[in-house]
Amino acid sequence: MSVEKTQQVLELLKQYKQDHIINFMNTLNDEEKELLENQILSIDFNQLTELYDSTKRKCEIKESKIEAIQYFDKQKLGNSKKMQLDDLGERIVSTGKYAVVTMAGGQGSRLEHPGPKGTFRLDVYGKGKYLFEILIDNLKEANKKYGVVIPWYIMTSKENHEETKNFLEKHAYFGYDRNSVILFQQGELPLIDYNGKLLIGKNKLIKLASDGNGGTFTSLRTTGALADMKERGIEWVFIGGVDNVLLKMVDTTLLGLAIEQKVEIASKSIPKANPQEKVGVFCKMNGHPKVIEYTELPEKMAEEVTSDGELKYGESHIMCNLFTIDAVEKISKEPLMYHQAKKKNSYLDETGREIIPQEANAYKFEAFIFDAFPFFDNIAILRGKREEDFAPVKNKEGVDSPKTAKELYEKYWN
Ligand code: UTP
Repeated sequence: MSVEKTQQVLELLKQYKQDHIINFMNTLNDEEKELLENQILSIDFNQLTELYDSTKRKCEIKESKIEAIQYFDKQKLGNSKKMQLDDLGERIVSTGKYAVVTMAGGQGSRLEHPGPKGTFRLDVYGKGKYLFEILIDNLKEANKKYGVVIPWYIMTSKENHEETKNFLEKHAYFGYDRNSVILFQQGELPLIDYNGKLLIGKNKLIKLASDGNGGTFTSLRTTGALADMKERGIEWVFIGGVDNVLLKMVDTTLLGLAIEQKVEIASKSIPKANPQEKVGVFCKMNGHPKVIEYTELPEKMAEEVTSDGELKYGESHIMCNLFTIDAVEKISKEPLMYHQAKKKNSYLDETGREIIPQEANAYKFEAFIFDAFPFFDNIAILRGKREEDFAPVKNKEGVDSPKTAKELYEKYWN
């Protein structure tokens, strides 16, 4: 261990007011200290300071620049239009030009399941089904219908990669073609507590967490997954979450709509249940498509209704998105802004004692997938139906919980 390196680390920690880590270092042996020092030197403290400062700023939206967005309602398309769109979509899927990405790098902190969220077993039909299994069922159904094997890319985090891989291997990929499942890892950022202090994890290193589902694009490129897609001749990429048990990953109507509208991005929405529902909604901001998070949507706008009585900003984003491969590449080279999420995270205190908080205690910085939408002039939005398209497993209990997802899933598949 070099004295200069230790000195450099101490200076950094002092400069950025992380003295608690200096104290913690006194509890470590030489080997542990060296690992921690190396990690500290890899942290971008300037970025971290900027991120912490951003938690103090109030997010303001200038209403005058915002308009409602146009969408197509799947229920109102009519049979012949729907068939025409399906045909356009089918031509892509059945010729092997369609890939699916599942974002499974989240912490799933609200669900409190000890493991990657995809390994959560939803109690359906008595015997239960894992969330990954439910997604695979959906893909297998599409493969059968279109006579292909859709390549499935799963984004994991450093935290859950091994466990995800072992789980899928243990279950023999639930019968999916092993060569068509590609796991890739997303990037990470340090967590900081409400006073801007870094947290120390059980492994005696600074606690890091995945950098949000917006990290998908860059990770696809930097891990080589995007190059793999190109080699396979992929033209359209579906990107969705791991935790919506009614997610339709291969919707040819949505794909057909995107092709017909000559756009590079498309998204399935559902009508917002009520002005207070905790979902992001679509709008046009300065002429570009955008999703405003529920935390950032002013109450007045959330309640605004159109002349036909519908919420003006009522198209909810449900993590059901389509991109051309060129769009994925373009976004992967653009920096996305970070949002802060308050999360419950255990940590070691200065003496090395583990503290398990009862409430959220730290900021996790996350890029959001939908912040990529404003890079485009247009998006095709297809309004689906809540009972057909949206049954998320987010919370341990109450709304969007295993209980509500089970009910919706069983009702849909009865
Ligand atoms: P959420 O934002 O709901 O987060 O993720 P979460 O991790 O599942 O749950 P909480 O908030 O900690 O309780 C929406 C989707 O984005 C993925 C999740 O795995 C989920 O499919 N995601 C989220 C990532 O892949 N990486 C991230 O860094 C964050």
